[in-house]
Amino acid sequence: MIFNNPSDICEFYINEVIKQGDTVVDATVGNGNDTLKLSNAVGENGLVYGFDIQEQAIEAAKKQNYKYSNVIFLNHSHADMDKYIIGEVSAVIFNLGYLPGGDHNISTKYETTVSALEKAMKLLAPGGTVITVIYRGGDSGFEECDGVVEYIRGIDYKRFNVLLFDYISRPKNPPMVCVIQKK
Ligand SMILES: C[S@@+](CC[C@H](N)C(=O)[O-])C[C@H]1O[C@@H](n2cnc3c(N)ncnc32)[C@H](O)[C@@H]1O
Repeated sequence: MIFNNPSDICEFYINEVIKQGDTVVDATVGNGNDTLKLSNAVGENGLVYGFDIQEQAIEAAKKQNYKYSNVIFLNHSHADMDKYIIGEVSAVIFNLGYLPGGDHNISTKYETTVSALEKAMKLLAPGGTVITVIYRGGDSGFEECDGVVEYIRGIDYKRFNVLLFDYISRPKNPPMVCVIQKK
């Protein structure tokens, strides 16, 4: 597979890691593009928990063309995911930043993102994966990206593989993709 964009890397891991019947999490539902991919990946016997702090995002995401009724939408912060999710999950997807077409000031923040990443890693089944798209520059600035990269550098390498994909020769600070695999 050719990784022309960060979303190709996400899609590769979604297809690689997620099986029919799995339970997975979309930690940043937004307009629901990833939610739909996850819903299709887990199929009719699977379950997707979808979190977003904006009602507007949840309502937009509900309008996607779902084949299965396997998504539980939660208008709550992903930092509280441990309060809503029962059992282990095989994948958690974060697409950081702000809602495309929405208010750029309502964005993911370093502190809650790191807290949610910690919770996501605790919920992972062995072999499970957390995929995070990290934006930098523009309206997103560098604070969240720098903080998240510093945090992931410190994750215990004996328990998790932590990979960071960066299009290092591209201009304009393209998003990076972090893949955390539970051993
Ligand atoms: C870049 S968008 C996600 C795009 C989405 N994956 C899609 O396919 O359309 C980021 C989303 O994260 C949401 N968000 C920000 N802080 C959050 C938090 N603490 N918990 C859950 N969602 C949050 C925003 O409201 C926004 O909708």
